[in-house]
Amino acid sequence: MYDQSQQKALFDRTKALLTSEISVEEIEDVRDLLRYHEWKYYVENNPVISDFEYDQLFKKLQKLETENPQLITVDSPTQRLSQDTITDFTTVAHIIPMLSLDNSYNAEDLLEFDKQVRKLTEIEGDLEYAVEPKFDGGSIALLYENDYLIRAATRGDGIMGEEITANIKTLASVPLKAPFSKYGYRRVELRGEALIPKDRFKNINEAREKEGLVLFANPRNAATGGLRTKNPNETRDRGLEAFIFQFGYAEDNNGNEVSRNLKAHFSSIEMLGQLGFKIPHAEKKLCKNIGEVIDFCRHWEEKRDDYRYEIDGMVVKVNDVRLQEICGSTSHHPRWAIAYKFKAKQATSKLINVEYQVGKIGSITPVAKLNPVQLAGVTVSSVSLHNEDFITSKDLHIGDTVLVERSGDVIPYIVKAMEELRDGSEKPIVFPEFCPVNNTEIPIRLERVEGEAAWRCPNCVCGAQTLQKMIFHVSKEAMDIDGFGKSYVERFYELGWLKDLADIYNLDYDAIAGLEGFGKKSAEKLRSSIEKAKKNPISRLLQSLTIHHLGKKASKIVAEQIGHVLDLKNWKHEDFTSIKDIGPVVAENVYQYFSNEENIRLLEKMESFGVNLTQTDEDKPRAVNAEGALAGKTILFTGTLHTMGRKQAEELAEQHGAKNISAVSKNLDILVVGENAGSKLTKAQSLGSVTIYTEQEFLDLIG
Ligand code: IVH
Repeated sequence: MYDQSQQKALFDRTKALLTSEISVEEIEDVRDLLRYHEWKYYVENNPVISDFEYDQLFKKLQKLETENPQLITVDSPTQRLSQDTITDFTTVAHIIPMLSLDNSYNAEDLLEFDKQVRKLTEIEGDLEYAVEPKFDGGSIALLYENDYLIRAATRGDGIMGEEITANIKTLASVPLKAPFSKYGYRRVELRGEALIPKDRFKNINEAREKEGLVLFANPRNAATGGLRTKNPNETRDRGLEAFIFQFGYAEDNNGNEVSRNLKAHFSSIEMLGQLGFKIPHAEKKLCKNIGEVIDFCRHWEEKRDDYRYEIDGMVVKVNDVRLQEICGSTSHHPRWAIAYKFKAKQATSKLINVEYQVGKIGSITPVAKLNPVQLAGVTVSSVSLHNEDFITSKDLHIGDTVLVERSGDVIPYIVKAMEELRDGSEKPIVFPEFCPVNNTEIPIRLERVEGEAAWRCPNCVCGAQTLQKMIFHVSKEAMDIDGFGKSYVERFYELGWLKDLADIYNLDYDAIAGLEGFGKKSAEKLRSSIEKAKKNPISRLLQSLTIHHLGKKASKIVAEQIGHVLDLKNWKHEDFTSIKDIGPVVAENVYQYFSNEENIRLLEKMESFGVNLTQTDEDKPRAVNAEGALAGKTILFTGTLHTMGRKQAEELAEQHGAKNISAVSKNLDILVVGENAGSKLTKAQSLGSVTIYTEQEFLDLIG
């Protein structure tokens, strides 16, 4: 479309015009520049100027046009914006019907298609195919006459579509003018698909969520909706892009149809790229035979999630237009093309029941049991419903037909219930009042913590929660005990070998070796993983205790402050809350945990089995300034300071290599005391290991 030297010239000219006044003589120049930048942004996805600069240039053109309305042209970039709203969509007839595509789902289907085409064309050897993405958006047909876009329509029923010219004109990836005449075409109809890139879709939904608007279910719905709004400005704001994938019809200056002159599909699309249209590049391929087609389709089925646009398959087209003619079409689809459909990401199924699971901190998670259904190659029969609010917001009922989606690595989720398919037999899902997992005689009323969506079993007596705690404890995120997975935990738990977390470190490996499916070797392997985990830094251990909200970062911060995990049992409430970067909720949870005698006993038991509870080098705070006067020292300020604020003092200390910590412990090197210092000073004095400075002494020290 533009070669490198042209691009350089356009870029330089843009920069020049941005800083100068523009004369009337330069008006078409500015339009060309804006067209170039529209192309860079929407067709190439590779802008060379900022949005701000584009807007500046655009405003300059608008100003010139307002002052000289006689100079406005229909293909001016300003004409993409429209003041008019559409009152009613008119229906228009497509020049030639917009057919559907036949579907294929696997290599056998494609081989069969190839066989049929070779039969129809009487070709025995390899056939050349063009393969391109099957874009999943809204189909459009564009009509150009004498190089100008004169009409755009939706697919409609394939024969008649809705006229949406004003909306399509707002799409900067659609040229308002393209030099078809250079190729001898007076009238052409192009087929394509309007899409919203996945990243932009995400932003749109995030913005809608903030505004409290209903979210779009997927990019396709947002795209097709955007094509059919009655306000073109709304179409523009959706940021749709149009890929062109088919030369539908061509007519020469004498009104003769010359679609066949195109010779080959692949090169006709390349030509459209040259004319400024958005076409697939690396995503399309000219394949020498059906074997290459199959490989390319499989390749894209794997890569589909990484692609910026939603695609639901690939389209395979006989490349030679003369052979396409020979194949012809049925009333429904061309015989020379076929869609290779990727495995479906969405499916419907019946919601048979809801079961409840208890999590490691007692949260009750409702799980929908579905009639098993195939989704992108995986059988799905269980889907998390997250919490009660999720069920209420989707108005889910037992017996509902639900739409399930699974995209990429995302776990399957329920998109919606199909209300229109209800027959009255559906039952509302009633969230239980008592712990539904509990299998003991004692009913336990669930509690809902303020500000949280989950209902929790506050006092698990049945062991379900302990089991979840153990599963988490051994996992990668926690103690990372290599080879110790969920199934082992469940098995040992059922055998009565694991009653609490400490038991994990006191297993009888001879007994394990004797279990079915085990043996000396795997028992030994497990032992060495567990022995290794016993030496973990205490930050990991803290994180593995499932204290609500105490994640990796907070665990590290707490670990920096203590010489031994059990130091925490002597901490006062305010010692926790005063730790920088530890919020009040985490502080309260950690305090509660260490106020509970049972937890202390558990930790002592762990220690007796060899689990490390002492701060390791890895847990220690790293000195910021290794050269400073306070390098490697931990420091704490207490009481009222006179020459500076507390924060300022902490910053100063940090600048000189110290690490600020929040509590007095064996880990504290320096305590700086201001006026009215209280319990911290007394504690530091009693420890004997802490150096105590006055404010002035501190200032002298750092010079
Ligand atoms: S060719 C005569 N190519 O799929 C050829 N269609 O079921 C007809 N689609 O509504 C279409 N990507 O909007 C073709 N690369 C592609 C396509 C594509 C998406 C859509 C098209 C049509 C539907 C056909």
